[in-house]
Amino acid sequence: MIAAPAVQIKRVERSKLADINLENLPFGKYFTDHMLEVDYDKGKWGTVQIKPYQPLMLEPSLAAIHYGQSIFEGIKAYRLHNGEIAIFRPHSNFQRFNISAERMAMPVVPEEIFIDGMRELINLDRNWVPAKADHSLYIRPFMFASDEVIGVKPSERYKFMIILSPTGPYYTAPMRIYVEEKYVRAVAGGVGYAKAAGNYGGAMLATAEAKRKGYDQVLWTDAHEHKYVQEIGVMNVFFVIGNTAYTPDLGQGTILAGVTRDSAITILREMGLSVEETAISIDRIMDAYKTGDLREVFGTGTAATISYIRELRYKDFVMEFNTDSWKTAPELKNRLNAIREGETEDKHSWLFKI
Ligand code: COI
Repeated sequence: MIAAPAVQIKRVERSKLADINLENLPFGKYFTDHMLEVDYDKGKWGTVQIKPYQPLMLEPSLAAIHYGQSIFEGIKAYRLHNGEIAIFRPHSNFQRFNISAERMAMPVVPEEIFIDGMRELINLDRNWVPAKADHSLYIRPFMFASDEVIGVKPSERYKFMIILSPTGPYYTAPMRIYVEEKYVRAVAGGVGYAKAAGNYGGAMLATAEAKRKGYDQVLWTDAHEHKYVQEIGVMNVFFVIGNTAYTPDLGQGTILAGVTRDSAITILREMGLSVEETAISIDRIMDAYKTGDLREVFGTGTAATISYIRELRYKDFVMEFNTDSWKTAPELKNRLNAIREGETEDKHSWLFKI
């Protein structure tokens, strides 16, 4: 085991917390007093620095800006009912972060930096963790190439950082979704399974066009036939057909292995549903809708938690759902929230206390 690197801490002189109402927060707009920063150079990680949240000084030649070696994670910490603070499954995000790093030819970040550093940072800003329902401290670890040279090659220097944002819900209402057939998010052999910044940038035009048509997000389909569904916007997707929940399998490497997706699969099984991770065609979804067997459609994600879909449009065919009558997604959401807020037993050891 590598010894935990020394952490240098420089505290703010005055906390900004007094200026912020933790009861009514938009998603991702406010940031806590401190941030974590550590540089990688010559094959080694340097000293972990926790310092006042502040702008970065970067050269215009910064490699990440030009060629996109940039990855991130999204994690949440909650204030439990007894006042303690817990991070939800950070080790799963830690593993996924390093899978993304490997795919983008970036160095892996050691657990002592990612997990221990995150814990130290949250501990310092612990008063920023909201207690209100549907609120949390959103944790954003990220890493980018920091070489200052414009040749195309994996960078030799990187910066890993963590910032924290006290936050409310990402989506507030059930969503209308447009099934995308023109643009694609991911192909087998590509970077769809990595949490690479470019995946999000590449998705924005399709989303903007769907918004112009009155939809909230797109349902991505496969690149070859536009027949098999992948993800909804920035979320994994589930379809409840009869007593089975279906979600696209991870086999092609086109889908992000969501931590909320994995938690949902576990909880849905505990609720007595079968869960199948498999290829799901849009034709199958339409057939199930026509026979009345398609009961619920919802997205899962760290930011979005469980988000209901009230309309799916494929070509001229519109599938509408009365989300008020749903049973499965609301119960899944309640059970997940109860674990995250420390109301029920954490039997899977998903909570990592600060
Ligand atoms: C998350 O769910 O944490 C995400 O990363 C999605 C989005 C906010 C980019």
